[in-house]
Amino acid sequence: MDKEPGEKSNHAFPAQFAWGVATSSHQVEGGNLNNQWAAWEQQGRIKSGDAVGLACDWWRHAELDFDLAQQLGVNALRLSVEWSRIEPAEGQWNADALNRYRQMLLALQERGMRPFVTLHHFTNPLWLEAKGGWLAPDAPQLFERYSQRVVSALGDLCTDWTTFNEPNVYVSLGYFLGEFPPGRRGRFMQVARVTRNLLLSHAAAYRKIHELQPDANVGWAQHYAVFKPQRKKFGPDRWLARFVNRRFNHNFADSILDGRAPFPLNKFGDSLPEVKGTCDYVGINYYSRLRAGFNWRSPKTAFFQLTVPPHKPQGDSGIEVPYGEAYPKGLRKAVKSFKAFEKPIYILENGVPDRDDRIRPWVIQSSAQQMQRMLRDGVDLRGYFHWSLTDNFEWNEGWHLRFGLIELDPATQERKARPSAQVYADVIRKSRNGASPSSSRRPLNERAHTPARE
Ligand code: BGC
Repeated sequence: MDKEPGEKSNHAFPAQFAWGVATSSHQVEGGNLNNQWAAWEQQGRIKSGDAVGLACDWWRHAELDFDLAQQLGVNALRLSVEWSRIEPAEGQWNADALNRYRQMLLALQERGMRPFVTLHHFTNPLWLEAKGGWLAPDAPQLFERYSQRVVSALGDLCTDWTTFNEPNVYVSLGYFLGEFPPGRRGRFMQVARVTRNLLLSHAAAYRKIHELQPDANVGWAQHYAVFKPQRKKFGPDRWLARFVNRRFNHNFADSILDGRAPFPLNKFGDSLPEVKGTCDYVGINYYSRLRAGFNWRSPKTAFFQLTVPPHKPQGDSGIEVPYGEAYPKGLRKAVKSFKAFEKPIYILENGVPDRDDRIRPWVIQSSAQQMQRMLRDGVDLRGYFHWSLTDNFEWNEGWHLRFGLIELDPATQERKARPSAQVYADVIRKSRNGASPSSSRRPLNERAHTPARE
């Protein structure tokens, strides 16, 4: 392809760089009725009151969206497989479900896209949930067995595996903030025990996958948020920002790095040597910056609160809580903080909830510039996946928050590309030409943002 006049030459992005979009089964497939998120929805726990319904109708028609992805010029696509479809009851396996995933992976390959498959993206089969979810003592063996089935069935079509998506978000929202099922609050010890079992499950799956597929590329997706003290000069807020950074961003990762048990179990002599070194890459999901501060009027969240100053760029706000400040520079901070691994890095998710596409173009271009800088600095960055291709079901926010490059009307299944789709396509095209991503000015805050609720 030719360069446009004025495009500066630079070959920061390697030819094999994975430019992709990211998705997850429950959020896009539709018809997943056998997992704990379907139950959560039936209990009326989706804040918007929305139903996932057909989602993006991928179980029947994923290929139509793969066509749209292909038009963007992506060469990779991240999806997850749904445990509750593959093993609908403990020990019972559904060959049809695995066949459908085979079709999807084949369809990706036919369109020149490298599939990245996540084994667990927040959803548990109901039978596992009934046993206590990741508190069940045999969860690691069950996950290992499930991983073995998946990799045996799909391994000829995929070598890039992500065991768990954002274990830190899963435990924090499920056992500390009560926002995700099972909806528990302030259960510090359960946070630690679930994290411990997720680590053991990850390590068991890591080994099993390599046994089946020696050249596999296996890691996990770490959600990373930049935390700043809400009040710079207030000691307790500074302490809190550091504490949340360590616990939220590094608890899981530290165990993989050096085999320590998650906090506070490590303080009682526990350790997990079998977990040490079980990753071939570090996957990072990065979205935002948040201010952490103490607030005595917030007992529901253990007296701490995450806020965004109203003058900072941000996408749309969640129904009760702000989503976070859009802060593309944080991408470099995120990558740097996992330097000690000395492993390749993939940005497995990055995006912004922005129904009207006010700031998404800026987020995409700025993120590309941050990556270009990192590559020039010699960082071993191998790929970037934008969240997401189309709008999809945003967990307890339902259809309220919209992350798609392509707008979706879930009622009619109509799709309409947002301007960002072209912006992302241009960034990819230019990176292949060896040109710099277009310069990006800081967005104006065109619309008043919903301030954080007290
Ligand atoms: C999750 C996705 C989610 C996205 C946007 C990530 O934390 O992995 O499932 O939709 O963020 O909030």
